[in-house]
Amino acid sequence: MSVKIHVPGDAAAVAVGADDVAGALAIEAARRGLSIHIVRNGSRGMFELETLVEVETPEGRIGYGPIYADDVPGLLDAGLCEGGAHAKRVGRPEALPFLKRQTRLTFARCGIIDPQSLDEYRALGGYKGLERALSLGSAGIIEELAKSGLRGRGGAGFPTAIKWKTTAEFPGDQKYMVCNADEGDSGTFADRMIMEGDPFVLIEGMTIGAVAVGAKRGYIYIRSEYPHAVAAMDRAIATARRAALLGAGIAGSPHSFDLEVRVGAGAYVCGEETSLLDSIEGKRGQVRAKPPLPAHKGLFGRPTVINNVLSYAAAPFILAEGAETYRDFGMGRSRGTMPIQLAGNIRNGGLFETAFGVTLGELVDDIGGGTLSGRPVRAVQVGGPLGAYFPRELFDTPFDYEAFAARDGLIGHGGVVVFDDTVDMRKQARFAMEFCAIESCGKCTPCRIGSTRGVETIDKLAAGLEPARQIEILRDLCETMKFGSLCALGGFTPYPVMSALTHFPEDFGAAKRQPEPAE
Ligand SMILES: Cc1cc2nc3c(=O)[nH]c(=O)nc-3n(C[C@H](O)[C@H](O)[C@H](O)COP(=O)(O)O)c2cc1C
Ligand code: SF4
Repeated sequence: MSVKIHVPGDAAAVAVGADDVAGALAIEAARRGLSIHIVRNGSRGMFELETLVEVETPEGRIGYGPIYADDVPGLLDAGLCEGGAHAKRVGRPEALPFLKRQTRLTFARCGIIDPQSLDEYRALGGYKGLERALSLGSAGIIEELAKSGLRGRGGAGFPTAIKWKTTAEFPGDQKYMVCNADEGDSGTFADRMIMEGDPFVLIEGMTIGAVAVGAKRGYIYIRSEYPHAVAAMDRAIATARRAALLGAGIAGSPHSFDLEVRVGAGAYVCGEETSLLDSIEGKRGQVRAKPPLPAHKGLFGRPTVINNVLSYAAAPFILAEGAETYRDFGMGRSRGTMPIQLAGNIRNGGLFETAFGVTLGELVDDIGGGTLSGRPVRAVQVGGPLGAYFPRELFDTPFDYEAFAARDGLIGHGGVVVFDDTVDMRKQARFAMEFCAIESCGKCTPCRIGSTRGVETIDKLAAGLEPARQIEILRDLCETMKFGSLCALGGFTPYPVMSALTHFPEDFGAAKRQPEPAE
């Protein structure tokens, strides 16, 4: 019998040599007459251990990492096939603190199954959600989703059930499901990991949605920088079609639903939902004014549900395990779990799925282990390029939509980017304005012109030209952009700029705020 060895095929692992490791293992095992079967699984999301090689033993899977191609002969000498001792042996991955402390509902199978195997997906609960959805019908599915408290994981946190209900109730014989897999936020990779590591969960989630709203066709819009995800989704869609889980009469039901992948062309604004719809329609991605809502008049002018990958990927668990099981996790109006992505200058970077409520400090200092550089953490940007910078004084903020909003921040798509004390926050503020100027779709003036004026103002500040006046102009510009922009690109760029100015005034040549005296 051959020994099963997992070598991630996830792009993050491939980037650090996973393909070379898999190749070296195949060659070296053949040379030694060892019978092995290599599975290219997804990543477990512990990036400092990639390439994480796992071997199946009678005691469960045993991991070794980080493994490079030239480690392979030594690994086989040490008895890799039996889980033998080696300096890079990490034991059972599930027992490692970074994984053990997580609550993996959406990512339950990621890194465990062979992403191409529908049988393995089914063996770990896959398609139970659709089975229940088919028995509940449209209203039952939407009610279950509403009870779960699921809110969109793409950024705005809008209740998913309301979108589905609005589209379901709007008349129309042609409706669409669209998945936003543009994943443009800095420091985020959860959508990619799902698509590469557990693609059937996204297909199942979109199919559940299609049954709920009565859509017959769906599109997954994936950024062009994700070729591995595109390939994984294409393969999984073809497999689902062969198994009659897509196409006419899905899973033996009267419902028909089919999916196709569309590849984006590389604009941040194409992640904005209406811009994305224009892009799928073959136009230049430009933001549409609302109303009409996409739920009424979306893709090709038809009622359309548009959700993020993680929102759809949460639906199978909610339907299979029940809304209460999901909503039991979390705090306040933020129910369930959030796949948080730890990135930037951080020691333990990766994917950490946990119930809402964990504090920023726990995430950065405790779970993330502080900075990779070993220097003190100075600022953390949460929620992508439009998210606020948090100083250490705000590390008690719990991961919760409302708690972040109350501190002029946002959790967005769950990206956490850490900076050490060498960061210059004036440069970060300039970067935010410059990013907006480059990525602006140009439709409205506050964003198109305001961001360019913002860059100029910060440059004048840096040159020492009437600093007090420049700060006044910068504040004024931010107000105009915040309240006058058509979409969140222009409307939220003030968040990183103003948070940098508010929490790190010394980098702008102003006096540092004194801490509030204790009561
Ligand atoms: C400039 C801009 C970029 C965005 N980029 C993304 C993105 O890459 N992925 C995403 O899911 N949502 C993105 N959004 C949010 C979408 O407009 C939309 O709210 C989301 O796709 C809805 O899905 P959800 O309800 O499941 O979160 C972006 C919004 C803006 C304004
Ligand atoms: S805020 Fe910027 S990106 Fe959004 S519609 Fe206006 S110009 Fe376009």
